[in-house]
Amino acid sequence: MMNIWHGLLFLLVLVTISEGKLNVLLIVADDLRPSLGCYGYEPLITPNIDLLASQSVVFNRTYAQQAICGPSRASFLTSRRPNTTHVYDQHTYWRKRGGNFTTLPQHFKNNGYVTFSVGKIFHPGAASGKTDDYPYSWSVPPYHPSTQQYKMAKVCPGPDGKLYMNIVCPVDVIAMPEKTLPDLQSTQHALQIMQNVSRFPEQPFFLAVGYHKPHIPLKYPREYLNLYPLDKIHLAPDPLMSNDIRTY
Ligand SMILES: *[C@@H]1O[C@H](CO)[C@@H](O)[C@H](O)[C@H]1NC(C)=O
Ligand SMILES: *[C@@H]1O[C@H](CO)[C@@H](O)[C@H](O)[C@H]1NC(C)=O
Ligand SMILES: *[C@@H]1O[C@H](CO)[C@@H](O)[C@H](O)[C@H]1NC(C)=O
Ligand SMILES: *[C@@H]1O[C@H](CO)[C@@H](O)[C@H](O)[C@H]1NC(C)=O
Repeated sequence: MMNIWHGLLFLLVLVTISEGKLNVLLIVADDLRPSLGCYGYEPLITPNIDLLASQSVVFNRTYAQQAICGPSRASFLTSRRPNTTHVYDQHTYWRKRGGNFTTLPQHFKNNGYVTFSVGKIFHPGAASGKTDDYPYSWSVPPYHPSTQQYKMAKVCPGPDGKLYMNIVCPVDVIAMPEKTLPDLQSTQHALQIMQNVSRFPEQPFFLAVGYHKPHIPLKYPREYLNLYPLDKIHLAPDPLMSNDIRTY
């Protein structure tokens, strides 16, 4: 599944101080474009990101290094362009192609930090050596939410009351397999890690949390649907590709 926003990730870096060293929380959202309150976009209700942005540096000019996920992630996590990593697809590992580059988390790990990966940070699979670049980048094996395996499960109620597969639908979380959703699991896991590391205040940490949403397929808690009544939803003013986009 690919669209023109596919390579667009949204990064938030939060820091807290641990005995004089900064702790780092890196949040990556897959396919999130700047349709957010903090970018002046009103239809979407994004109070938490807006609050964070109000206390942060907000970048208004950002670029997708490449319009797919693996190369973009390899690029920003090694701070090298795709023409240096030589990663242009979803199954090439930069260490085996472009070079044995030090990644952002690896740099922290090499400098006394304990580093954690939760959810989707490196593109999983062959693109990160089938290990999410563990142990180079991470102190402990990366965590992936178990319910990601149900992303194509028949959990969406149809008009006949039966359950169907759909790429997007509102759900009652309690009725889902394992009674949760992938990003909820990742948040829980990240909170647990932060609780654990808070017992060792002298040990600085780098925690990367990668959310799968809003990349499809996704299921979302039904209560959020109430925030967007259908009669308030307008079609995009520019539903078609503009004439100045060239395809090759
Ligand atoms: C970035 O865009 C937001 C929303 O349009 C605006 O409030 C803010 O002033 C802009 N910041 C800069 C540095 O241009
Ligand atoms: C990669 O592309 C950039 C932008 O076009 C260029 O400036 C740079 O020299 C290229 N690097 C390599 C290694 O080819
Ligand atoms: C890559 O670099 C790491 C150190 O960052 C080193 O331990 C490893 O042996 C290197 N691997 C290769 C194939 O050069
Ligand atoms: C938190 O620490 C406990 C006790 O050491 C451990 O069992 C648990 O796996 C840790 N949780 C995470 C998410 O690392």
